[in-house]
Amino acid sequence: MKISVIGAGYVGLTTAACLAQIGHDVFCSESEVEKLSKLQNGVMPLFEPYLEDVIKGVRKAGRLHFGSTEEGIVWGDVIFICVGTPPLANGDADLSAIEGVARVIAKRAMGYRLVTEKSTVPVQTGAQLRKHLAVHSTNGLKYDVASNPEFLREGTSVEDFLHPDRIVIGVDSPRAAELLREIYEPIVKQRFTCPIHSDCMKRKEPVFLITDTGSAELIKHASNSFLAMKISFINMVANLCEAVGADVSKVAQGMGLDPRIGPAFLNPGIGFGGFCFPKDVQAFIRIAEKSGCDFSLLKEVEKINRSRVEHFVEKVRKELWVVRGKKIAIWGLAFKPNTDDVRFAPSIALVKSLVDEGAHVRAYDPEAMEKAKSALPNITYCSNPYEAAEGADAIVIVTEWDEFGQLDWDRLLSTVEQPLIVDGRNVFAPGDISRKGFRYVSIGRADASPCQPAVSEKIESPSSRAGSIREVSA
Ligand code: UGA
Repeated sequence: MKISVIGAGYVGLTTAACLAQIGHDVFCSESEVEKLSKLQNGVMPLFEPYLEDVIKGVRKAGRLHFGSTEEGIVWGDVIFICVGTPPLANGDADLSAIEGVARVIAKRAMGYRLVTEKSTVPVQTGAQLRKHLAVHSTNGLKYDVASNPEFLREGTSVEDFLHPDRIVIGVDSPRAAELLREIYEPIVKQRFTCPIHSDCMKRKEPVFLITDTGSAELIKHASNSFLAMKISFINMVANLCEAVGADVSKVAQGMGLDPRIGPAFLNPGIGFGGFCFPKDVQAFIRIAEKSGCDFSLLKEVEKINRSRVEHFVEKVRKELWVVRGKKIAIWGLAFKPNTDDVRFAPSIALVKSLVDEGAHVRAYDPEAMEKAKSALPNITYCSNPYEAAEGADAIVIVTEWDEFGQLDWDRLLSTVEQPLIVDGRNVFAPGDISRKGFRYVSIGRADASPCQPAVSEKIESPSSRAGSIREVSA
């Protein structure tokens, strides 16, 4: 099928590449001239595991093309809108990019189009789109509007697209449902060449859920808000653990064993970031407010999240006594591992706060340093974790990149000024780090000092924590 994807951000680019991977003819448009020229010349504008290889493969096969929005609108029978919906000052989602696309569709498209929202939008955006097309379309355009929310996580978006738990579509006509079913058929049946795994076709088929447009729009905001709520919940439990001397890893493990709760998204830390949760929670609160519902529960979720960085800085202060003049190594700037994205990353507020207090910050991130430079211009960027740790009074872990689990601790010990790790992501087992000669301070668990009796815990690669609670024996 001929499909257009409007917008080549993380979501649009992954959607376009994966739809081409499963056999469709895809045109992906991008309005930023520099980004479009990169894509047309085979240069990736962002880092996302597997995406570059998928794009190379499908371009070689002639199934993925890049160009302007106008060209995209003309190309596809089905148009996926994947443009940004950033937050406005009042918390509402800014829908001007969506409206801009609707205007081009109304003006340029002919025949029939299925206009599908993939961007995260407030409930009733589909209804607005329909109204807009009815009023402004020329050329006798026939159309349906559908919602097909994405549940892609940055860092695993290719895998999430090709092997989802569910595909949700919100439609108002059988024709729209049929077209979307046809598009996703290879994924539902798990019949395509997977660029990631060799044996993945044994996986469970995803649920294909058909709803009305408004419900589909709500499913997206409600899902992200619920996950954000889980994180803020465990972060408060972590505070309580610190206050009473309990261990949040054990508490989370015990909670997660209940299938009604589940182990995912119970990793405490310095708060959720990225371009989804913070803005989506905010937008969901606004949507509720405008509909006469006071979703104060989510206001607390936001409040707890906002307090995480300061709570963490307080730990650093407590250890260093005076922050001014201290050298602090920051490991990780991305809002989570396997991405170069620093939008709304806790690292930004954290580093700014330390710099404001007079610390000399030396940062290292495997992918995100380029993108961090405009938000954090006055710090030293280093080419590896050891360089960042040179002469450091504290090593502060902000993002749980795998490589932080595979370091030469003797080398680190010989390079730091003070052997202190303050871990905002609970990457390590405290006993392991103290055995390496470091004092270790983490979230919601007892601090561990060097030479403390050994605890039988195993260092794992940090990303193995994703979605699950590690087994730790006391
Ligand atoms: C999130 C959702 O997980 C996706 O399903 C959704 O499609 C996407 O938003 C979106 O709306 O586009 P993403 O923002 O890529 O995906 O990242 P997550 O893996 O959900 O992590 C979000 C934040 O929560 C990160 O800062 C992460 O460090 C933090 N987090 C996550 C925790 O602090 N604790 C956890 O247990 C899990």
